Amino acid sequence: MSKKERRSQGWFGKTGKDGLIYRSWFKKQGIPTHELGGKPIIGICNTWSELTPCNSHFRELAEFVKKGILEAGGYPVEFPVMSLGETVMKPTAMLYRNLASMDTEESIRANPLDGVVLLCGCDKTTPSLVMGASSVNLPTIVVSGGPMLTGRYRGADVSTSDIWRFSEASRQGKMTQEDLYVAESALCRSDGHCGVMGTASTMACMVEALGLSLPGNAAIPAPDTARKVLAHMSGMEIVKMVENDLKISDILTREAFENAIMVNAAIGGSTNFVIHLLAIAGRIGINLNLEDFDRFSSNIPLLANLQPSGKYFMEDFYYAGGLPPVIRQLKDHLHSSAITVTGKSIGENNERFENFNQEVIATIDSPFNPISGIVVLKGNLCETGAIIKPSAASPSLMKHTGKAVVFEDIDDYKQKIDDPDLDIDENSVMILKNVGPKGYPGMPEVGNMGLPPKVLEKGIQDMIRISDGRMSGTGFGTIVLHATPEAAEGGNFAVVQTGDMIALDVEGRRLDLLVSEEELAKRKAAWRKPAAPVERGYVSLYVKHVEQANLGADLDFLKGNSGSEVTKDSH
Ligand code: FES
Ligand code: MG
Repeated sequence: MSKKERRSQGWFGKTGKDGLIYRSWFKKQGIPTHELGGKPIIGICNTWSELTPCNSHFRELAEFVKKGILEAGGYPVEFPVMSLGETVMKPTAMLYRNLASMDTEESIRANPLDGVVLLCGCDKTTPSLVMGASSVNLPTIVVSGGPMLTGRYRGADVSTSDIWRFSEASRQGKMTQEDLYVAESALCRSDGHCGVMGTASTMACMVEALGLSLPGNAAIPAPDTARKVLAHMSGMEIVKMVENDLKISDILTREAFENAIMVNAAIGGSTNFVIHLLAIAGRIGINLNLEDFDRFSSNIPLLANLQPSGKYFMEDFYYAGGLPPVIRQLKDHLHSSAITVTGKSIGENNERFENFNQEVIATIDSPFNPISGIVVLKGNLCETGAIIKPSAASPSLMKHTGKAVVFEDIDDYKQKIDDPDLDIDENSVMILKNVGPKGYPGMPEVGNMGLPPKVLEKGIQDMIRISDGRMSGTGFGTIVLHATPEAAEGGNFAVVQTGDMIALDVEGRRLDLLVSEEELAKRKAAWRKPAAPVERGYVSLYVKHVEQANLGADLDFLKGNSGSEVTKDSH
């Protein structure tokens, strides 16, 4: 591409009043004229925020990206977009994923950029930025922030995944509040996002498997020097991508999405992968559906022995070689010719990487677990689908029929769960309604609800739990999630009652409510749609337009791509 044809020259290459304005204010940052004369202008889209502790090192990381961009002959401009701190945002960061994606999309399109580097870390900061960038379609590369180092508590390795274990231990009186204070200081030991195969690590693996990052991006710990080097190299790469006009839509092909699903199965990635990949596909215009997740993951074994499906941490995964040896081992399954940010195929990118520890990354002939991936359930309790992650579930509960104990919403659950008179035992099926996209609103990670104390006291750690919500990527158990249509939309999930029999059959891909059609019809006729929880602002827009989880929970009007062209000037 010639210098004159660059997108940014639609601003800086102009003569007359418009060019004068565009250049003059930019130059006040100390930029000489020649820098604006046709060099690739590269945006660094930064989700740094002290409200997103997982991304708190991103200002430093951006400096390394800049060095790479400058070295390759581009000019870097860093800009902020809305950042989503998973653990602090109420009622849930997921409510704002689509809003942050709008910020990203419009910030990229409206500005004089030729390419973008997305700095992503904590759970939602990856999908929101990739969704937004997909709707503009410039050359785009992702640099992830990297996972935290493994924590240490009382001589044992710990991570943020231990939150669930610690909180149950304290509910059972096995840990005091003082113990919890000590533990919470040990869990998050360094810069970076959660150090297990939770949602953030899953998202980092997703972008690497899609071909949107340099090989090795997912596993390098945040404080490791190699992370800074990768940021520098990514800065160099994006300039090359602009020179070669390699756009995000050239990379995000149907084959790339299928690759990502297969890789996600092999690493035991988070269930949140499903909802985010569907949303990204919707933006780039690839027809991906819920069944594809089962179809492309069912014959892939679990190779990574990482928490929460296994034992090890992201730090161990890095020392074992990270994602490249996983990708290399899947070469007979993957579309090896899918093109990536390097301009080379995913097969070429990963052909030389070794596996240094078969304890952490098992071989395909002797996998860590033959069961992996995401199973998509259908049945009259989830007419348009629900999902379960079998590698995190109890084998004994995969085929089970039990009596429903229904919680109408999260407050109902909190009120009843510790009640010794609650009629529930380990064979019951816990159901939590109204935690879906519209119902909560925002679809929080409460699907892995804690068990009742009287079951825990027996030493039982798992029961079937079903909801229209999500679960943290660090959670585990026999947990059915994303039931659709959600309770707030009506359907059978809205009318299931305590005492109904529920049949789960993971192998048969079924989830059924054993209640007659006549009875269900009667209940549905009496059902009333709950009033909209909010009348104004973004949340009311969200509730009106959010789609169901089986479609990716994007806002209906955000689907697709408006391109990068802006025809009108600002003055
Ligand atoms: Fe940010 Fe886990 S809370 S990655
Ligand atoms: Mg999470």
